[in-house]
Amino acid sequence: MADLSVSFIGLKLRNPIIVASSGLTSTKEGVRRAAEAGAGAIVLKSLFEEQLRAEIAPIAGETESHPEAEAFLAGMGFSEGEDEYVALVKAAKATTDVPIIASLNCSGDSLWPELASRVAAAGADAIELNLGVVPMDPATPAAAIEDRLVALVESVASRARVPVCSKIGASYTNVGNLASRLAKAGSRGLTLFNRFYRMDVDLESMSLAAGPTRSSPEAYHESLRWIAALEGRVGAELCASGGVYDGATALRLVAAGAQAVQMCSAIYARGYSAVTGAVDEMGAWLDAHGVARLSDLRGRLARRNSDAPELYGRLHYVKALTGQA
Ligand SMILES: Cc1cc2nc3c(=O)[nH]c(=O)nc-3n(C[C@H](O)[C@H](O)[C@H](O)COP(=O)(O)O)c2cc1C
Repeated sequence: MADLSVSFIGLKLRNPIIVASSGLTSTKEGVRRAAEAGAGAIVLKSLFEEQLRAEIAPIAGETESHPEAEAFLAGMGFSEGEDEYVALVKAAKATTDVPIIASLNCSGDSLWPELASRVAAAGADAIELNLGVVPMDPATPAAAIEDRLVALVESVASRARVPVCSKIGASYTNVGNLASRLAKAGSRGLTLFNRFYRMDVDLESMSLAAGPTRSSPEAYHESLRWIAALEGRVGAELCASGGVYDGATALRLVAAGAQAVQMCSAIYARGYSAVTGAVDEMGAWLDAHGVARLSDLRGRLARRNSDAPELYGRLHYVKALTGQA
């Protein structure tokens, strides 16, 4: 079978399928199941700063913290804080040889570097910084938000003894510019993209409600666009997240330039066989097409390697709208 191994931010992965940070990876048992299903790496459930603060309650209102902290509070995450997370990192490392990536999400600035040092000391092979910021104050300029993210990454990366990867949302004026700045600040990898908590309205009770937590298979197109556009151009390795449901989608993202791809909703929907199935499907496709190594495919369709870069911007859009696609 074709060689599916990849390197991502200095880690050796047997294949590019990473089980994404979520409730799936919040326990030793979840980590074991992910590893047995064939995952190339595992990102543990995020440790949210809110978990570490005594005053957890007043999250509603004008907050800039990650809304997933609310999900945590609703029982999807952990019940305790830092020590429990360090214990999870250690347990995960004792369970499997598959690389373990810890995930941190802080709303303030001060705790990140210290937490990163602690989870690295506990044995995490890398750290994913979940830079999920949902700005609620219209007076905050975009540049101020981005400057803060860059400073955060710098403060963690300069102290962490393991590779750092930043997981960002898609809603920036120029994703590529932020990506370059985060890479310069020390982020060896970028996970594109974070999926934010979806909101809804319950008409009967006329109150706010949670929207769907899972993504659909169509969600990968957004990652695909930006990975193809940015591969080799921002100084960081790119990892896809969002809508990876099968091996064919993983291959598309690798062809666009992804070094690795994360899977989450597909596992919630189909169980861990989604991971095994995707790995098998990738291998079978490469074999059937005479490609010996997955790395031979990587980036073939990235903008950097294209002699028609206009295809990555407006041209397809114009063609689609004028019926010429
Ligand atoms: C139930 C659930 C919990 C999640 N928890 C986290 C988390 O703690 N930290 C994080 O960075 N992403 C979290 N995510 C986002 C996933 O890691 C992933 O980025 C997102 O779901 C998109 O990938 P998918 O389309 O494969 O689901 C969560 C997603 C779900 C569905």
